[in-house]
Amino acid sequence: MTMIKENGNPIIFENGDKKIAVEFLVGGFVRVYEKKAKTDLIEISYRKSNAKIEVKEGAIAYGSFELSFDDEASLIVKKSGKDYLVVKHTHEEGNNVSFSFNSESHIYGLGDKMAQLDKKGYAYRQWNTDCTARHDELEPALYKSLNFILLEKESTYCGLFFPSTYPYDVDLGLKEENKATITSKDAPIDYFLFLEDTPKEIVSAYSSLVGHPYMVRLKMLGNNQSRWGYESEALVREVVSKYRENQIPLDYLHFDIFYMDGYRDFTSDKTRFPNLKNLTSWMKDKNVEAVCINDAGIKLDPEFDVYNYCKDNGLISTQNGKELVATVWPGDSIFPKYYHPKAQTFFGDKAYAFMKENGFSGLWNDMNEPVSFKGELPEDVDFSIPGRKVSHLEEHNVYGEHMIRCFSKIFERDNIRPYLFSRACFATTPKYAFVWNGDNYSLWHHLRSSIPQVLTLSLCGAMFNGDDIGGFGGHGNRELLIRWVEANILFPFFRNHSTLNTKAQEPYAYDEETKEIYTHYLNIRYELLPYLYNCVEEMSSKGIPMVRPLFYNYPLDEKSKCVNDQYMVGDDIMVAPIVDQGATVRSVYFPKGNWYDYETGEKYKGGRYYAIPMPLGKTGIYVRGNTIIPCFKKGLQYIEKEEIDTLVLRLYGNKGKCRLYEDDGKTLDYKKGKFNVYAFSFDKKGVTYKYIEKEYESPFRTLKIKKGGKEASINFKENKAVALEDLK
Ligand code: GLC
Repeated sequence: MTMIKENGNPIIFENGDKKIAVEFLVGGFVRVYEKKAKTDLIEISYRKSNAKIEVKEGAIAYGSFELSFDDEASLIVKKSGKDYLVVKHTHEEGNNVSFSFNSESHIYGLGDKMAQLDKKGYAYRQWNTDCTARHDELEPALYKSLNFILLEKESTYCGLFFPSTYPYDVDLGLKEENKATITSKDAPIDYFLFLEDTPKEIVSAYSSLVGHPYMVRLKMLGNNQSRWGYESEALVREVVSKYRENQIPLDYLHFDIFYMDGYRDFTSDKTRFPNLKNLTSWMKDKNVEAVCINDAGIKLDPEFDVYNYCKDNGLISTQNGKELVATVWPGDSIFPKYYHPKAQTFFGDKAYAFMKENGFSGLWNDMNEPVSFKGELPEDVDFSIPGRKVSHLEEHNVYGEHMIRCFSKIFERDNIRPYLFSRACFATTPKYAFVWNGDNYSLWHHLRSSIPQVLTLSLCGAMFNGDDIGGFGGHGNRELLIRWVEANILFPFFRNHSTLNTKAQEPYAYDEETKEIYTHYLNIRYELLPYLYNCVEEMSSKGIPMVRPLFYNYPLDEKSKCVNDQYMVGDDIMVAPIVDQGATVRSVYFPKGNWYDYETGEKYKGGRYYAIPMPLGKTGIYVRGNTIIPCFKKGLQYIEKEEIDTLVLRLYGNKGKCRLYEDDGKTLDYKKGKFNVYAFSFDKKGVTYKYIEKEYESPFRTLKIKKGGKEASINFKENKAVALEDLK
């Protein structure tokens, strides 16, 4: 029996005390709720669909799916006449949404977990946590809360997003085999359901709801070096000089908390760094830009202007009416109410002035889960702002986002794109800031997990991400570092970072061989930047992740559904590294089609596994056949417009095409249409190209075509065709 009470948009089903609404939205998704969760602390964007929703015999046709309800107000989703999903709405120890799957199903998502892609059989908590233990799949919570689940059942995929900022407990079949239950004590039953035919469509629709990741600078795809421990000007100069002397590409160097005066934000330690501006200008002359860290907690110090401003303007979070005093790096610290309009302006202005004065071009935001060394902040800490009561419980998961929102607009003042990243993150954060994965360790299992972790973050919207290469905590070793670089080589964010008092792990810190392998793969990364930047543009305009699990590109291929040690970069490149100590050969799965080793050109047939030798210094980077990979010339040391004078097109197979997006890589002018889009194609005759958009003065002067061992160069501006027979 179906009891549709209101037949419109939303459709409301009611039976006794059971009531559920389904609202149809533009873009292929619906919102299902008993009561809508409050979403005013975040920004999400969706529109109600105007299309007529027809209920016929109690069922609603929806794309290739059909929706109906049972007497218990469960939502029944059918595909091809068969039950695909039955979502139950109950109230046991909170508000629960549950559904069953089968043993062959895969259940992906939940963002920041140090776990395999398929999370079936585990339970998690969505609560931003600075987990100091060595992360593994049993850790219920890490720094980020991305409440997105992607379910695969018999090659049909669907997505669920839970929008409340309150915590959720997510059991993916631990308590009851093959049953997922999402529970919240404080959030009502309310979720967005994405019913599309492919993971790509689902992820893009979800990304458009929470906001696509912001467009980063081209230079940000370059190499970043960091260490908690660059404790003096001399040491910073030494690191940058060694990079340049050894011809190892480098674009950004990060300043961790040692640059601060007593760990006060927006101050500098004049003993360690007597003249930061001089130092950062010296770095800039070498084309290395400086990024500084900024912590969420503010030192409780009546002599400190930032503390005083917060105090005088009611910006300090309180408990029982008293300032909440936490402990962070500066000792006693307070947590500002960053969401307060006054805080947004004050912190933005402070950061802008500080960065300008000292020559920093990026801001790294940390400890913003928020974390206190005294332990978890009590639930009743008050984060209210004028006109809105906000408890810690409601604010916690978006505290980091509220912090970075103070800074996301300041870069616009100089017409430059933000270099802004954060450890804490909610689903809606990536449109303001990118993320890194926090404090991993120099352990083989952390290297192994970095792949599913980064891929899961990508599926859940935090698409520009990366982990601490070489491992943050603990001492590394040369083999681990080399394998880490090889494995992460095409991750969106590439940064080597480590903690205090651990073995040095800069590329030159071990021996010649390590340095050479590290540099070799960085060179390949820099060569591939046009391809990666094209992915970045698709990420920020369409919500298409740059790095993806294999099943994202091959959703019907059974063998692609649970590959944890390979990843796709865009549509045409696949990386398969070694992530185990001592291993020198690995099995690589090639999806359908032909594949070519990027370095050797060796060809592999798809749809099968190969055992491929990969001694130290070799990682598998494979290009799909019948495609064109756009590259920069070899040997770039950093990214600046003057260096980018050559576009290299590498041709694979017998025919192929590619789209290439290009802009100044730096400013916001692309928003005003200042960009180019090229369509390149080739067949047995030759290569041709045309502009789809042409509003930007390209620095390209030379076009180089490469196929197999042969190549030809032409003037980029004048020629629009190259015959393959001209390749020598
Ligand atoms: C936190 C960060 C780490 C940083 C350290 C000191 O542990 O996650 O990256 O180096 O604080 O600032």
